[in-house]
Amino acid sequence: MTLMKIVLQLALLVAIAFSIPVPRTEVGQFGIGSRVDGDYRLPNNTAPLQYNITLVPYIVVGNFTFDGTVDILLQVLEATSTITLHTNALTYNESLTKLVNQNGSSINVTSHTYDTAEQFLIIGVASQLSIGNYTLSFTYVGVLDSDMYGFYRSSYTNASGDTVWLATTQFEPTSARRAFPCYDEPALKATFAISIKHEPELHALSNMPINYTYEDSTDGKIWTVFETTPIMPTYLVAFVVSDFIAIKSDDETYNVWTKPPAIDQAQYVFDIGRIELAELENYTNISYMLPKMDQISIPDFSAGAMENWGLVTYRESMFLYEENVSTLSTKRSIATVISHEFGHQWFGNLVSPAWWKYLWLNEGFATYFQYYTTDVAEDNWRLMEQFVVVAQQATAFVSDASATSHPMNQDVASPSEISAIFDNISYRKAACVIRMMSHFLTEEVFKAGLTKYLNKMAYSAATSDDLFEALDEAESEAYILPTLVYVSDIMETWVEQMGYPVVTVTRNYTTGTTEITQARFLLGDADSSDTHDYKWWIPINWAVQSSPDFSSTVAADWIRSQDESIIISSFNASGWVIFNKQQTGYYRVNYDDTNWGMIANYLNSDDYLAIHVLNRAALIDDALNLARANLLSYSVVLDVTLYLQREVDYVPWYAAFTGLSYLHRVFANTDEYESFRTYFAFLTSNVFETVGIEESSDDEHMTTLNRINVINYACNFGLQSCRSSAEEKLINWLDNSTVNPIAPNLLTNTICAGLRGANSTTWNRALNKYLTTESSTEKTALLAGLGCSENESIINNWMSAIINSTTGLTTSTSSSAFIYVYQGSPYNVDRAFDFLVDNVNDIVSYFGSNSTVQTFLTGTAYRMTTQTQLDKLNAFITAQSAILGTAAATAIEYAESNIAWNTAYEEEVRTWLVATLAELEATATETYETTTFEEDYDDSSAATASLNFCAALLIFVCLVQTN
Ligand code: BES
Ligand code: ZN
Repeated sequence: MTLMKIVLQLALLVAIAFSIPVPRTEVGQFGIGSRVDGDYRLPNNTAPLQYNITLVPYIVVGNFTFDGTVDILLQVLEATSTITLHTNALTYNESLTKLVNQNGSSINVTSHTYDTAEQFLIIGVASQLSIGNYTLSFTYVGVLDSDMYGFYRSSYTNASGDTVWLATTQFEPTSARRAFPCYDEPALKATFAISIKHEPELHALSNMPINYTYEDSTDGKIWTVFETTPIMPTYLVAFVVSDFIAIKSDDETYNVWTKPPAIDQAQYVFDIGRIELAELENYTNISYMLPKMDQISIPDFSAGAMENWGLVTYRESMFLYEENVSTLSTKRSIATVISHEFGHQWFGNLVSPAWWKYLWLNEGFATYFQYYTTDVAEDNWRLMEQFVVVAQQATAFVSDASATSHPMNQDVASPSEISAIFDNISYRKAACVIRMMSHFLTEEVFKAGLTKYLNKMAYSAATSDDLFEALDEAESEAYILPTLVYVSDIMETWVEQMGYPVVTVTRNYTTGTTEITQARFLLGDADSSDTHDYKWWIPINWAVQSSPDFSSTVAADWIRSQDESIIISSFNASGWVIFNKQQTGYYRVNYDDTNWGMIANYLNSDDYLAIHVLNRAALIDDALNLARANLLSYSVVLDVTLYLQREVDYVPWYAAFTGLSYLHRVFANTDEYESFRTYFAFLTSNVFETVGIEESSDDEHMTTLNRINVINYACNFGLQSCRSSAEEKLINWLDNSTVNPIAPNLLTNTICAGLRGANSTTWNRALNKYLTTESSTEKTALLAGLGCSENESIINNWMSAIINSTTGLTTSTSSSAFIYVYQGSPYNVDRAFDFLVDNVNDIVSYFGSNSTVQTFLTGTAYRMTTQTQLDKLNAFITAQSAILGTAAATAIEYAESNIAWNTAYEEEVRTWLVATLAELEATATETYETTTFEEDYDDSSAATASLNFCAALLIFVCLVQTN
């Protein structure tokens, strides 16, 4: 090991431990030309200018290989006797490799060295090449694999039942090198001239329009020659050879392609995509750059979609839409994934990342526009609000609260390290941080800055500093930030450090001062070796009870990274203050108990709508997570949840359901679990009455989405009105099975809910339906639903049937069916685990390996909450260690962590629940006795609302009384 290498490795280890960036230049770590083994970066002494590529895939007849040639026009930037490029899984005809200088003279190629670990091909020449341009040509053969990377094969079944093949590409991040030798790094941009030979009955698509086609006289096949691309990275090159058909715009510059049988399902993509592309042009103030845009759905696809410039590829489930058949969430994924990929046409394609370290400049912006642009195209979907609960609270805040998170600017080198950062940090956290910038700078300044950034860095490669510089420039024209404060200073604290802060607001009600502190928010154990001092530049703003105004989202003040705490002016002591309006800041907020108490009281009053819907969601999400992190007591948090009995909006309920899922899992099967169910069933009763069990054609988008969640949770918590109406709907379908009366959106949840308390007759009819239906959607929903039964003998019989080959399930279906049992209800966890213990040998032999048993073990242990369960788990593990392998340790870790939660918090939650239920019951009985039912309720909405509220309370009384 060289000294240099030791020093670098040490630097890397220290950097990983402290999450600070490793010092390195973006082009070539050791300066131009030099490199050491184990470095995955190209040496940068040569660079590409243009690739001329020809490809001949063999998919109709042949062995799924392709012939390729490439002429690479390259620059030698520093005298060298080697040229290093990327290659992977290509076989070269070395005798045909040619190197020619700019005068057309040949230079002898003396060696081909394949460095397989780094996927390099190093071309050697006899004497040093001087600075200048050269053309390097290769002839090679590649494989059209079925693994969905590189230039690969896919297929579909046509109407006559035949398999029809196609050849397509997925290059990002490091698979272009499997289609042609190249400089496969995002900053090494070049132009591409591509020609493809194919059967006359097929056609070829690529990034650019077809320039011309001609017949090859040797075999009658067709050469399709494409126009040359603009300067772009290798990972965005794409081509597809298929028999697909299209819906085309009149001028054929905007087209959507699918396999022939599915073309009718492409209309939604066609329509919505056009609006979204236009909105991105409008937002960036830069026209879409290529002469055409093709979108195509590929039957076998590794990612969800891929933003290849001018030829965006999609997986079918994110593309094909059928009215009245597809669910609303499918429609939402389609609309949003298009916005995402179209966002990349500017962020990624026009301006590419200088290295994968800056992947978030691609994925963060694409994720932001995924919501933003769709919000313009589907303007009643409230997508910017969905963004906050889905992307920020339920995803980024969860991933980034772990001690093993990573900074947005993350050093990576090997292909596997690069692939690993396509994650919640590069996507959702970055999108949240982008949203935060757009609010603290104001949207106008933010937009102006982005346009500057895109124009300045167009056809080039950018780092995060380039972005911040452009935003600073726009800011300096508008004076938004305090003097001498720069976007780059602020943003460095967000992109170079992992994690995020919790801001704690502590009010002194006598002196009137308010202290605000910052600290890193962590869920789970800290990394004891991490001594980094986590501090951020945090934009703060607030609303107060006396005039609740949540509209302005610029920063009213800043907590600087050098501030542990700041003191700000006083608030009226008799009312609440709420920080982080609309949760535009990427942080959580905690308060003193008095302020929390005032918030809880206000929420639980008729005035609650005066608190912005995003802040209602933020209060719920923050409170539940602060308690989980031991920063707030559960009784304060549960006081806040009381208001949910009034809440009917999707957004706060989404936050509540996310947070309550955790609480539900760790509290399940403890002594007062029934009280937990009763309480939360009570909270959901009003929203359930509001959304109902059935869809209506005039529902708003959010109501339709909300109903899906409400039915799921309300029925799961045991709300009787929910269960009986779901069961009725289910029986209704089983009775008249030709037409399914349950809306596609509600199918899964209605079946599950309907089977929770159903008798064995209904359950067996559902099983029979599962075995006989031809609809794959129905099959999936029914299989999941069968595990939702809470009836012990039904579940025990079902588990035996699952591993009995005469039942006729495939092993993978059996595995899912068993997982659905312990996921289906907390009551089924012990049943599933006992079954596992009693039948472990039969289960191993049925599945033919230990791995399924291991999955069941960790799955059930994840849901264990009591010492009795842990004891049983340990006994099983001791008895079966040979079968359980390393899954045993994971299982124990899961169960122990749930039990640790119980040791710390169960008593507090239990005490609160018992007291609150008693109080609520007293109120309900009183309301019941004093409500004058003789009163003539007409159909005025006030009367209906009041009746609903009484009904909710009565349901609650019934629930309490049945316990
Ligand atoms: N650039 C990615 C595709 C990709 C993902 C390439 C992972 C390599 C590795 C694309 O823009 C993307 O992010 N697709 C998403 C879809 C989405 C977030 C709507 C995906 O594939 O998950
Ligand atoms: Zn993306």
